[in-house]
Order: sequence, then C-alpha cells, then structure tokens
Amino acid sequence: MIRDIVAGKIASLQRGEVPFHELDVPELLERNRERITFTTDANDVVGCELLFVCVDTPPTASGDADLSRVWRVVEELPALEGRPVLVMKSTVPVGTGTRVGEGLDARGLAHVGYASNPEFLSEGQAVHEFIHPDRVVVGAFEAADGDAVAALYEGLGAPIVRCDVNSSEMIKLAANAFLMTRISFINEIANVCEATGADVVKVAEGVGLDHRLGPHFLRAGIGYGGSCFPKDSLALKQLASNSGYHFQLLAAVIEVNELQKRRVIGKLERHLGPLSGKKVALLGLAFKPGTDDMREAPSIVLAARLLAEGAEVRGWDPVADAEAVLPGVEIASSVIEAVAGADAAVIVTEWPELRELARDEVRLAMANPLLVDGRNLLDPALTRAAGFTYEGVGRPGAAGAAAA
Ligand code: UDX
Repeated sequence: MIRDIVAGKIASLQRGEVPFHELDVPELLERNRERITFTTDANDVVGCELLFVCVDTPPTASGDADLSRVWRVVEELPALEGRPVLVMKSTVPVGTGTRVGEGLDARGLAHVGYASNPEFLSEGQAVHEFIHPDRVVVGAFEAADGDAVAALYEGLGAPIVRCDVNSSEMIKLAANAFLMTRISFINEIANVCEATGADVVKVAEGVGLDHRLGPHFLRAGIGYGGSCFPKDSLALKQLASNSGYHFQLLAAVIEVNELQKRRVIGKLERHLGPLSGKKVALLGLAFKPGTDDMREAPSIVLAARLLAEGAEVRGWDPVADAEAVLPGVEIASSVIEAVAGADAAVIVTEWPELRELARDEVRLAMANPLLVDGRNLLDPALTRAAGFTYEGVGRPGAAGAAAA
C-alpha cells in the first residue's frame, strides 16, 4: 500500500506510469502490480503492520529541516489497532523520533511503535542499492519494534546496525556530511592541481587506492547538488548551531561547494573575456546523470550567473524537464542544437551521451570550439587533438595553470 496526498501522482501510478525518471522502477512496479495498491486515503493504512514515512524534509528559510510533512503524516494517521510500527525513512534532525513519539502519544496512539530506518539510496541506482545495501540501520525505542523492521531486511544479507533512535538519525546525517566532505575536499585539491599543474584524476586514483581512504566520492567537478546533500548539510549545520555548536568543517564544505559551481564562470572569462553577448551551451541540466531531478542542480546556479553576466544561455538534457527552473535559458532538443553558434559549451552533468562530444560535427557547429568539462568526462588529450580548446577540473594544460 502506497499513500500520497498528491492525487496526480497516485493516479499515474494506478495507471502504471511512474511520475519520475528512475532506472528499473517501472519494471519493478509492473512485476509487482498485483501486490501494490495506491491510495490518497489515510484510512486505507488501517491494518498495516509497518508504516514507512517517506516524505521530503526540505530546508526552511533558516536552513532547518522542514518537518511539516512528517507532522502531517502523524496527524493523519487513522485509529490503528495492535502494535503497528511507524518507521521513519525521511532524513530528519536528531531528536525527531522523540518528538514524533510524543506526537503519537498526544494523538492517543501511544501503542504505535516507532523506528528510525534511514535511507541511503542514491538516485539513478536506487533499486539496485535497495537490493544490495552496504548496511541497514535500525534505531528503535523498543527492541521488538526494531526487530520487526530488521526482519524485513534479513534476506538481503547486509549488516544490520541496531541502535537508539538518536544515533540512527545521526548516522544518516553524518554519512551524507562525510560524502560531501570528500567531494569538497577533492574539489579543493583539484583547484590546487589547477594552480600547480597536477592532474586530479590521477591524484584521486592514487589517493583512493589507500584502503583507509577508498576510491569513492573523489570525483572532482562543479560541486554536488540534488535533493539530499545541499539540504542535509544545511540541516546538520543548523542542528549543530541550534545546539550551541559551530560545525566549522561542514560550513567550509558548503562554502567550497558554492564557490566550485562558480569557478566555471572564471574559466569561461579567461578564454572569452567578458561574457556579455557570448553564447554558452550548458550540456546536462539534471543534478546528475540517470535522473530528471533538477533540485539544487549546479546548472541552475551556472545559468543564473551566466545570464547575470549578459550571456545567452542554451541548455540541453536528455530527460530533465528544466524549462520551469531555468528562466531565460533556451532549451534545445539536441546537443547539436544547443552548441550551434556557441562560443563555449560546458559539460555540467556527465550524461553518457556526452562522451562522444569531441567530434567534428560539434566543433564545426560551434562558433568557437571551447569545451569546459565540469565533470572531467572527456579525455583532455583526445579532445584537444580533435581541435577543441579544453578545460577540465583540476587537469593540467588549462589556461592560467602552471606548465604540466
Ligand atoms: C545522495 C547519497 O549518495 C545517498 O546516500 C543519500 O541517500 C541521498 O543523497 P544522490 O543525491 O542521489 O544520493 O546522489 P549522489 O550520487 O550521492 O551524488 C550527489 C551529488 O554529488 C551529485 O551532484 C554528484 O554529481 C556529486 N558527486 C558525487 C561529485 O561531485 N563527486 C563524486 O565523487 C560523487
């Protein structure tokens, strides 16, 4: 049973249509059609033994997590019998479980159990990661409630971390913060590579082979975006400061990420001079490949900065419907259309379709064959050999960098 308050989403799911782009989800729902019902009616959840809360928790103006959707779920719970367990999948500040428990008590639902079971899926590979998790985390106030949740995952063979609710909530925030720290760290290393003539791709390979460090989340680029990292970093920073602690490292991680998105502008200016009247193509608009999600996509900041400098901006993405969030940007239906007459093209999102970008058709379509590769998707030597001026992130041979 899947319940949502957005009638349009439920209606499309009932028709067998998935209202977002996610690998394997359409097939998964189709295979299990007989076993899933979709509803907007809160009363339909009566009889469910486990009730997963999967709402979003976007940032408020202060950077705190907005828990209004969580509270709405609690308020709309119907009278439930037996000992159902409310399971929090949403990313929430530490202490939320305690408050939700109090909310349940206040609603006369003290017999409903509570567990925190954070979700670590990343978009574009969510189904695979659900079936093959690195770990499952279950925090509960009562051991029996935690047992009920843990039992669901036993068949997956992954380690199950059992803990208290506060720690479970913190695990999710800390894991995300650590991943973001790695990204901002390698992005700063990339910036120093640019200033000194080292190659961050090789540096990341050499660093990542240290078993204490590991190879993941060391891809330098134009910064992280998406529905989780930006808001979860703010929420953790805010959670800390609300508790009287200034989380300096996280503040720096966030700032580095903001600056990283803007460095592309400097690279374009170094080659083109003032950007007023220049035509720039943004290739890939979703916050990462494999999704149509535009939330906190670096393309939004880039487009806004370019437009503010007076550039003409054309964007292309294979799946994202970006028009509404990129006002002033002309959306092209193909890469060639996007780069036609352009003074520069920027790879913003590393869609596989862009791997073959350094070809004659693209170079000849552009007014000036400058490629700024914000994701280090292309091979610098091959791209230059194909007649392009190439700028990656933290790669030698870029304008203004020391000799390699
Ligand atoms: C992330 C976490 O991975 C996941 O555990 C959590 O549940 C939700 O947030 P997601 O936002 O879907 O998942 O994408 P992810 O693949 O983690 O990428 C996040 C951002 O970081 C993207 O903008 C991506 O381009 C960027 N990134 C990732 C880098 O810039 N470099 C890297 O090495 C890895």
